[in-house]
Amino acid sequence: MDPAILHIQDEGRRFPPPEAFKAKARIKSLAEYHKLYEESIHAPEQFWARQAKELAWMRPWNSVFDWDKETCRFTWFRGGKLNVSSNCLDRHLETQGEKVAILWQGEREEDKRRLTYRELHDEVCRFANVLKKKGVQKGDRVCVYLPMIPEAVIAMLACTRIGAIHSVVFAGFSSAALKDRLDDSKAKVLITADGGRRSGKEFDLKGMADAALTDCQSVEQVIVVQHIKNNAAMKKGRDVYWHDEMRSTHGACPATEMDAEDPLFILYTSGTTGKPKGALHTTAGYLLYTYLTYRYIFDYSDKDIYWCTADVGWVTGHSYIVYGPLANGATVLMFEGVPTYPDNDRFWQIVENYKVSVLYTAPTALRALMRFGDGPVKKHDLSSLRLLGSVGEPINPEAWMWYHTVIGGGRCPIVDTWWQTETGGILISPLPGAMTLKPGCACRPFFGVRPVVYNEEGGLAQRNEGGYLAITHPWPGLMRTVWGNHDRYIETYWDKYKGEYSTGDAARVDENGDIWLMGRVDDVIKVSGHRLGTAEVESALVSHPSVAEAGVVGRPHPIKGQCLYAFVTLKHGIPISEQLKQELIQHVSTTMGPIAKPDFIQFAEGLPKTRSGKIMRRILKAIASGEADVGNTTTLADPSVVEELVKNRVA
Ligand code: WTA
Repeated sequence: MDPAILHIQDEGRRFPPPEAFKAKARIKSLAEYHKLYEESIHAPEQFWARQAKELAWMRPWNSVFDWDKETCRFTWFRGGKLNVSSNCLDRHLETQGEKVAILWQGEREEDKRRLTYRELHDEVCRFANVLKKKGVQKGDRVCVYLPMIPEAVIAMLACTRIGAIHSVVFAGFSSAALKDRLDDSKAKVLITADGGRRSGKEFDLKGMADAALTDCQSVEQVIVVQHIKNNAAMKKGRDVYWHDEMRSTHGACPATEMDAEDPLFILYTSGTTGKPKGALHTTAGYLLYTYLTYRYIFDYSDKDIYWCTADVGWVTGHSYIVYGPLANGATVLMFEGVPTYPDNDRFWQIVENYKVSVLYTAPTALRALMRFGDGPVKKHDLSSLRLLGSVGEPINPEAWMWYHTVIGGGRCPIVDTWWQTETGGILISPLPGAMTLKPGCACRPFFGVRPVVYNEEGGLAQRNEGGYLAITHPWPGLMRTVWGNHDRYIETYWDKYKGEYSTGDAARVDENGDIWLMGRVDDVIKVSGHRLGTAEVESALVSHPSVAEAGVVGRPHPIKGQCLYAFVTLKHGIPISEQLKQELIQHVSTTMGPIAKPDFIQFAEGLPKTRSGKIMRRILKAIASGEADVGNTTTLADPSVVEELVKNRVA
């Protein structure tokens, strides 16, 4: 019998919610969580209907949830009418119109903007009128290809105001990626900027857009934000400036009445195979789910200064920079730059300057910053922080502990939030005032979420036995289809466990019922018939004091089938040596067990990462296996690291 994905790491540290935090939290105990969770499972319609009443509706719904299992189609709040932009803006005007909605910090210290809810509302209405003037109608696709500037949020909300479907493409993508996405969505209008700033350099965004548009059939109009003022070339009859258009339009724009299930946006995401898929999210369910998860997981308080360091081009930016926080009326900080420019204390400087109270970032950023030690952190007063969040990949206990002790001063709970582009919002996370934290553990399902872990044979996994994570019932935020390809949606997500959503992630549930994520199933490796979660091996390596980051993949082995090949980045100033290599192998062996020992360790200056910071294991696998062709490297943040890795491959 094929043993299930092995779990052999034990993390024994426990962090109950601090009393001071608990006292003010929205959900203050595990019992309170249980009560609501039970209701959300046993009386889901009652639960979701009550939550949905917190939103502003133009017309009430007829039924809360319908599910056609055969066709993998489901609807939430059938017949209900509402508008997302008016829920994020108009609804707050009377009570908190003068509250700051967006604080923007440019990469250059002197570049700052702030928009109150009233100002943001006015900008959105005016830009919605610009879109209308350009002929954009309900259901049309509008592509947003912008750096991290407030116009990105304004453009997204303006689309939702008139019922246009936005497709945001990350500004770090190049023209080929943009073109694929424009073609697939058949976008009518492209909103872009002359350029952007990253790490002290300017990049030519308009040039990328022009290259993508050379033989694009669908785009009729391009609206260009003048951001870095680089005199970008403008094509007559096609390109117009954002500020010119805004000047010649008026400020009133009624919100279009949208059906609960009308499409809200498309967001392209890479699968294991094939072209990126356009995940389609719809109106009411997505809004409600991001509203509620933000409220409870980030324990929303009116006074918060909330900073999510993701880019709006990724789902985290959609759900937890724009829709979730704004639906709650929160103050959101938006930052254009990177963690290490002009210096490696930039993040901490921003936290201090803006008195950030809730920080939501990614393990990869934390590990990158950990390399510089505590010095850069200690230069700043981080006492405004009360809650920390992590997203995007499993957070290794070492990074978790650093985040908790050095950044959070031991006083801030960490919400390790597990979710996906497809899921719309967070599915598994601690509730910070209610749950005892374990470093590296995502804890419990959110309301309405029913996770299940299956073993290799398709049976239920035992406690602490790793397996495949599926979710048995749809929740309001789940994507409805792959844009233009419902069959691919069914094949990718619903075929494996008939009628259940298959996540592609491995997980285990521990003896307390807490859920540990173990990385993508496709990155799970079999060594001598044992399955290992790469995330766990990496975590073991990173727990060594000399290691900053590690990427572990499988490599064919004549006896074991596969063995582990580890790419390791050392902390600044640590010299490479054969002795250290042996020490690391021994370290993994002692922390995880001998079967998890890497057979090969290659020291590397950098690992191949997507621009959102995910390690591209596909490329590492190809290098480790000595394949002549490492595949497509165009989505990498820095494709040049690949050459270096190939050169130094351990034969
Ligand atoms: C991984 C990002 C462990 C996971 C929101 C998932 C995580 C994929 C976590 C989705 C976490 C995200 N712990 N793994 N807290 N958060 N992942 O679509 O493998 O960019 O399937 O969405 O990231 O990535 P995506």
